[in-house]
Amino acid sequence: MSTATNSNNTATNFNSKATNIVWHDAAVTPAERQDKLGNKPCILWYTGLSGSGKSTVANAVDRMLHDRGYATYLLDGDNVRHGLNKDLGFSDADRVENIRRIAEVSRLFNDAGLIVSTAFISPFMSDRDSARALIGDDFIEIFVDTPLEECEKRDPKGLYKKARAGEISNFTGIDSPYEAPGAPEMHVQTQGKSIEEVAKQIVDYLIAQNYIK
Ligand code: ADX
Repeated sequence: MSTATNSNNTATNFNSKATNIVWHDAAVTPAERQDKLGNKPCILWYTGLSGSGKSTVANAVDRMLHDRGYATYLLDGDNVRHGLNKDLGFSDADRVENIRRIAEVSRLFNDAGLIVSTAFISPFMSDRDSARALIGDDFIEIFVDTPLEECEKRDPKGLYKKARAGEISNFTGIDSPYEAPGAPEMHVQTQGKSIEEVAKQIVDYLIAQNYIK
């Protein structure tokens, strides 16, 4: 059982709270949905520091896949926090819950037949491993490995500056940890490369792994 404490210090039990619930098999199977869309679904799980380029690369890959006729969907950290996860902040426990929900939503979209991209810092290895365990073989972890100094230099939202000034606490890389992946399926670097170059590297990987043609 995994238990965490949310920002109000209330214990959150990630196992089901409900009792007397029964799983129903769907009349339309995931395989039938895949056939209809012509996709081999997978999850492109981007991880990296804020400002590393996750969203930019994920959007470029998503555009390439869409333009080639694949059915895709992108879940982006900042956007999801405007809606589904607007009740979550940046405490460790809230980040755990953020990633747990994203993994579950990704799995649903995968079942629906889509190639899903997720662009979240997802700083904790154990949470990414849980997502991998939930999703299985079609989980593709992509480490967008941009060094902290470079992210801080880019600082597209001015957040590093605020974190250094003590105006934001629990900021990843400053006073909250980022645990780099040990064995990601892909390890990409954005420094000195064009976004198209990095995106093509990922698309080529998907071709090599027979996810797309
Ligand atoms: S995660 O750690 O839970 O995976 P997520 O990817 O959803 O984070 O959100 C990260 C984005 O939220 C950052 O790119 C940044 O724009 C914003 N943000 C605001 N406060 C923080 C913070 N304390 N730490 C990291 N990112 C923050």
